[in-house]
This record gives sequence, structure tokens and C-alpha cells, in this order.
Amino acid sequence: MRLKNKDLLGLEYLSKEEIELILKTAVPFKELFTRSIKKVPTLRGKTVVLLFYEPSTRTRISFELAAKRLSADTVNISASGSSVEKGESLIDTGKTLEAMKADFVVIRHSMSGASHVLARNINPSVINAGDGSHEHPTQGLLDIFTINEKKGTVKGLKVVIIGDIAHSRVARSNIWGLTKLGAEVVVCGPSTLIPRDIEKTGAKVCYNLDFALKNADVVNVLRIQLERQKTKRLPSLREYNLLFGMTKEKLKLAKPDVIIMHPGPMNRGIEITSNVADGAQSVIDEQVTNGIAVRMAVLYLLAGGKSSPES
Ligand code: CP
Repeated sequence: MRLKNKDLLGLEYLSKEEIELILKTAVPFKELFTRSIKKVPTLRGKTVVLLFYEPSTRTRISFELAAKRLSADTVNISASGSSVEKGESLIDTGKTLEAMKADFVVIRHSMSGASHVLARNINPSVINAGDGSHEHPTQGLLDIFTINEKKGTVKGLKVVIIGDIAHSRVARSNIWGLTKLGAEVVVCGPSTLIPRDIEKTGAKVCYNLDFALKNADVVNVLRIQLERQKTKRLPSLREYNLLFGMTKEKLKLAKPDVIIMHPGPMNRGIEITSNVADGAQSVIDEQVTNGIAVRMAVLYLLAGGKSSPES
């Protein structure tokens, strides 16, 4: 089996089988990390361009490491210091990369749909590394991979996503992916930060954290995106922290073996306390490690791979 499209733009557009294929393909790539030489020649001669119009630590470095571990060449472009500053359009930038024979363009952009625009206009595979508040598909995939690894399955689990759902591309990708794989997804946060039509995606809504946490197998805490709060939707961060901040005490309301996730970067002391983020139930560091394996799988499959990654 192969991925149907040349691009990865969102988990909304992948079938259950395609998501499962990516997750399965990531397993042998993760095993590679235990070896002294963490590299395979699979994408030798291919070029991966990392086109980041917004800041990133985890996603950009993770894609770069993923590409390098597959022996691809990588090029980094950020908006500052490139011709984007002179007013070059996204499509013209994409066409320039195509003319330079890039095979993949990994794009992060503040505009929802930017990756779609690029994918429609250039031949290289486009991978969405986060577009506005739309989707962040590889974050969704690495979150699901981590849940699978810890719980053995996603099907039938109760996954609670807490926070600013309205601005969260991570939430949207998680909801699409998790519901396709049979999880029960509950979103929880202030009513001002939950979109009215979110239930159309298959997620349930709960405005009370105590109720939401009951019987939770997985709690995914989102970052309060201070940079996207143009219209003041929160009375104060203190009030948010009191009502929706994840603490040791709150966590006791979930199942005893609940796991805690956060996509990063964290606002410690606002949406999560340090003793939860660094506690025994936290899988936050593992999410980061798994991100590389999942992104290797995505690059490998988009390049046309289908069977064993090392064959
Ligand atoms: N999770 C995530 O997208 O982190 P970065 O913004 O650091 O890439």
C-alpha cells in the first residue's frame, strides 16, 4: 500500500488505512535510533526544503533530522533573510524551489490553507508543518504514534484535549486522526476558545475540566497561544489557570494509568504545572523523539516507499 497523494496536508484528507500505514512504517525507523549509526540511505540524492514562515523548534529540527537520517540533503529557509522580506509571493517562492529541483517542501505558515496553495502550484511533495489554526498533521501523527506505543491501541480510548481549541491546528489534526482510528475525543476549555461547529469533526465538547477528566486514558494539554489572541477571548491567564490548568490534583480525576501529553512549547504555570509536565505520567519527551520517526515515515512514503523501509 502507498499514500494516495503526493502531499501531506492534513489528517482530514487521509484514510484510516493511510494513517495506519504511516504509524506502522514509523516503527522500524524508531528502532534505528538505538543503533550507533542512526542513518539509512533511503533518500540519498533527494532534497528536502524546510520553508518556515513562523518560528519553530521541535518541528523544524525534527524534519531536518528525519531527512538527514534518511540521507537526504536539507535546506532551511525562514521568512526573515529571504526574498519573502522583499515581498515575494508564496507561489513564486515555491516555483523557485521547484526550479532548483527540490523533492519536498515542508512548510509552516501563519495562513490556514497556505500548504494547499503551494501544493496546487508546484510539483514537489508539500508537507504541512502547521498552517494557521487549520492542521499540523505530523504533530497529530506523532501524538497518535505515542498513544499507540503506550496503550497498545487508540481504539476505544478516551482522549481529552484541553485548551485553546479555536486556534489549535494540533487539536484539529488530533481529532481527525484519533476519531478515524476509533478513539473517543473530548475537547475541553473556555466556551470562548471552543469553535461552535467542532462537533462536526466527531469530537465531543465539555466545558468543565473535572467532568472531562473522568475516565480519561490520555490528556493532551495545549499551549495557550498568546500570539493568536487578537480578540481577547480570555478574561485573564490567572482565571484560565484556575479553571483549566493541569495540576497533580486534577490529574487524579483521570484513570490511574493516564498519560499526559503536550505538543510544546509549554507555558509552565499557565496550562500545566511543572510537576505534571515532568512527572511519571508525562510522555512529552517521548513525543519529541517519536516525531523524528513519524516524519521519516512520512518522507519515505511520500517518496514512493511501500514495503520495509530498509529494503
Ligand atoms: N509542536 C510544535 O509544533 O512545536 P514547534 O512550534 O517548536 O515546532
